[in-house]
Amino acid sequence: MNICCIGAGYVGGPTMAMIAKKCPNISVNVVDINEERIKAWQSDDLPIYEPGLYDVVKESLNRNLFFSTDIDSAIDNADIIFVSVNTPTKTFGEGAGRASDLQYWELCARRIKEVSKSDKIIVEKSTLPVRTAEAMERVLHSDKSDIHFEVLSNPEFLAEGSAVEDLENPDRVLIGGHDTDSGQRAVNVIVDIYANWIPKNKILTSNVWSSELSKLTANAFLAQRVSSINTISALCEATEADVTEVSHAIGTDSRIGSKFLKASIGFGGSCFKKDILNLVYLCETYGLNEVANYWQQVVEINDYQQVRFVRQIIQRMFNTIAGKKILILGFAFKANTGDTRESPAIKICRELYAEKAEIVISDPKALDNAKKDLIDLENIKYEQDPYKASKEADAIAVLTDWNEYKDLDYKKIYDGMRKPAFIFDGRNFLDHNFLFNIGYEVYSIGKGHQSHLD
Ligand code: UDX
Ligand code: ADP
Repeated sequence: MNICCIGAGYVGGPTMAMIAKKCPNISVNVVDINEERIKAWQSDDLPIYEPGLYDVVKESLNRNLFFSTDIDSAIDNADIIFVSVNTPTKTFGEGAGRASDLQYWELCARRIKEVSKSDKIIVEKSTLPVRTAEAMERVLHSDKSDIHFEVLSNPEFLAEGSAVEDLENPDRVLIGGHDTDSGQRAVNVIVDIYANWIPKNKILTSNVWSSELSKLTANAFLAQRVSSINTISALCEATEADVTEVSHAIGTDSRIGSKFLKASIGFGGSCFKKDILNLVYLCETYGLNEVANYWQQVVEINDYQQVRFVRQIIQRMFNTIAGKKILILGFAFKANTGDTRESPAIKICRELYAEKAEIVISDPKALDNAKKDLIDLENIKYEQDPYKASKEADAIAVLTDWNEYKDLDYKKIYDGMRKPAFIFDGRNFLDHNFLFNIGYEVYSIGKGHQSHLD
């Protein structure tokens, strides 16, 4: 069997590497228009950072896992084509800022139609609006040739930083297909691939539209939990309740569950905001304005949480941060990734910059991306070493929950900072009493302030 995957990004690369590892008898060809990315996949310096990914790729590379820019041959030779190209939020025209931009995806569909000489199963891996498969089928079958394309939906639920673990041991795999003979045959082909390493009871099948909508809904629900606890974090600060205690108390209710209840400066990442906005747009398209407004609030609370964090910094630092040096500890949208897409750090740095703060950014993996994200801001400093970066700083803002930030020598850092030395824990994960006893002015999301000055 021969698989082609169009799009060698965060989703396509790791997913195909796992299929190749688990199915040595299947030839997996990952193609992309981006030559640099393809070269990187073939090198020792992979284009994305994911714990454990290097070993998975190396195990199958050039055995049954191939990366190439020869898209046409890969399409032509394939029995199954996974489409895993980017579907960012539209920046122009109708639905700008909300709807998915499907231009890359449609280009793929057209290419597949033009190049294919035999029947193929087409699998949507990219997150797409509901009923996109229908549009894809129309494009693929537009010239009325005898070639049959069976379109399935198989959304990817992996999270960055734990992609390898999520692929190896997923909660579930979802495959959506049409309720026709050819649809069900195609679903079974994909089920059999995953069944090489995933127990059958974890492989769910559904109709195509349910599968497409489940992906958007899963991300919307996860993001909603983060926004929900973040609203409570604001209330905690006003009432001297502690959000960690509240999260723990509600999370022990098995109906609620404990995951995704960590208060923070808000969610980032390439999926949550994009997928909710997409859901909002879809609801509006179907005239469901109340439903659209409900989900829109999840994004608005996320923005509010970031603005609120900056406001706390300014207020605590005597209502001005102009000329004050603020160390940003962590720029990635979460720990264990170099990815900064939609990272709350971007908005927070821009707001601090607008207040004329002097910004130094430190992150173990994300500095290259941070530089690109803030390319238009002058005089931002980037320093990998948190100790060097903290010299003479007035404040530290912890924006990513990197484990190593728990183990820094905060006494040494304090000694090198200007006084009063402030620390703003946007991830609510440091030992605040310990920091306060060193001498820091401490603020933490959902816990409020501990001050030596009041
Ligand atoms: C998410 C989904 O988890 C995954 O299933 C989907 O395929 C892609 O989108 P990802 O964006 O990699 O994955 O990250 P995730 O771990 O979900 O975290 C998203 C954001 O929420 C991060 O910024 C994280 O810091 C934040 N978060 C998460 C919180 O602020 N609090 C929490 O309790 C959990
Ligand atoms: P995701 O997080 O969904 O994987 P990425 O942006 O990381 O998204 O990856 C998508 C990949 O798809 C990019 O490497 C991009 O170059 C590639 N791509 C986009 N359009 C096409 C196309 N028409 N043909 C081949 N590859 C494409």
